[in-house]
Amino acid sequence: GGLTTIDPGYKNTGSCTSAITFLNGEEGILRYRGYSIEDLADKADFLEVAYLLIFGELPTTTQLEKFHSDIKAQSHVDEDVKKILDGFPKTAHPMGVLSSLTSALIAFNPSSVNVDSEEDMYKAIVNIMGKFPVLVAWALRKRTGQPLDYGDDSLGYVDNILKMMFKKPNSEYKVDPIVSNALDKLLILHADHEQNCSTSTVRIVGSSHAGLFASLSAGISALWGPLHGGANQAVLEMLEAIKEDGGDTKKYMAKAKDKNDPFRLMGFGHRVYKNFDPRAKIIKVAADEVLEALGVEDPILDIAKGLEQEALNDPYFVDRKLYPNVDFYSGIIYRAMGIPVEMFTVMFALGRLPGWIAQWKEMRENKEPIGRPRQVYTGENLRSFKEASDR
Ligand code: CMC
Repeated sequence: GGLTTIDPGYKNTGSCTSAITFLNGEEGILRYRGYSIEDLADKADFLEVAYLLIFGELPTTTQLEKFHSDIKAQSHVDEDVKKILDGFPKTAHPMGVLSSLTSALIAFNPSSVNVDSEEDMYKAIVNIMGKFPVLVAWALRKRTGQPLDYGDDSLGYVDNILKMMFKKPNSEYKVDPIVSNALDKLLILHADHEQNCSTSTVRIVGSSHAGLFASLSAGISALWGPLHGGANQAVLEMLEAIKEDGGDTKKYMAKAKDKNDPFRLMGFGHRVYKNFDPRAKIIKVAADEVLEALGVEDPILDIAKGLEQEALNDPYFVDRKLYPNVDFYSGIIYRAMGIPVEMFTVMFALGRLPGWIAQWKEMRENKEPIGRPRQVYTGENLRSFKEASDR
């Protein structure tokens, strides 16, 4: 008893202390472990950033090599997992497949649940860093009807992911450095974002001492929703719909502002950013560069830019401080790389994996108590039971 205040959506509730990601939404600042997102996107590679987020410091060359080889040693997924994948219809959404298979991995790696020592925790981490890309690639190949395969240990972490996703049977796959650099950058930009919906989910599930993989599977489900990571798929579908509709952006702007219409401008607005999302700025520049380098002309890029300009000059969006977020331009790049739209949120999950791991590890190391919010009860007072015949 005694609880009188509630905070729906935890808009003003801090759930933990954290030394991982600094975010200032008023000024549009994002830093991982003190390093600016701009610097990291420009200079680091994804595996280095993963190490930084999880262990707190940028790795030396030796540390990075060891991390990578430990990951590679764990990148084999039990063949029986393929049978589970077989059971899904081809039309299954890859986010559902990914969350299910991540959970299924627990049965094949039961020791991953035991993370009492630092060594056990490290094992669980390299285990999932190795296996997760395999599941991502399989989720795609299931959809496209391609045979399942394993990676190529001679490649870097991100190049290997691309090869696992796109290699065709009986033909060579050569990684295109433009595609690889663009994916690396996108994964870095998605790698962590402090206590967002999926990360809070990972922490709260993990706080019951469910294992890392179970916590991650729950995080994937949280990310799936269109208000969160699912927005990247929703943005592309929205831009396509506008294109089909003759490019009438004004009509969709009006719908977004109409309070009787559930339509929202997808890829716009953010719980914390009341200014430009710094990730969106980087991605917008990258979209131009990547499409040009790949020689792709995509009319929806112009539609997106047009919508952005209209929104930035519209009092509805200005008053509410709604700016483009990370999901607004990312799908245009993914599509130019040949990634199907249903896979966009899976790509987000791939990028967010090290952030989820880092936050889960911090939660366990800080010995946080089980997450268990309170409520204010608004239901009936005590009533006497009524027999069915009296109801
Ligand atoms: N289009 C139209 N109106 C909007 C939008 C939008 N995209 N976003 C917010 N608003 C309005 C909202 O209707 C409300 O208006 P009013 O004050 O008149 O009631 C006001 O702005 C505040 O919005 P809110 O829903 O109370 O804000 P929130 O912090 O609960 O929600 C959000 C944040 C991201 C869920 C929301 O902005 C949204 O639904 N955006 C579209 C989906 C999207 O792009 N999500 C991706 C988020 S970024 C990265 C990620 O998590 O994947």
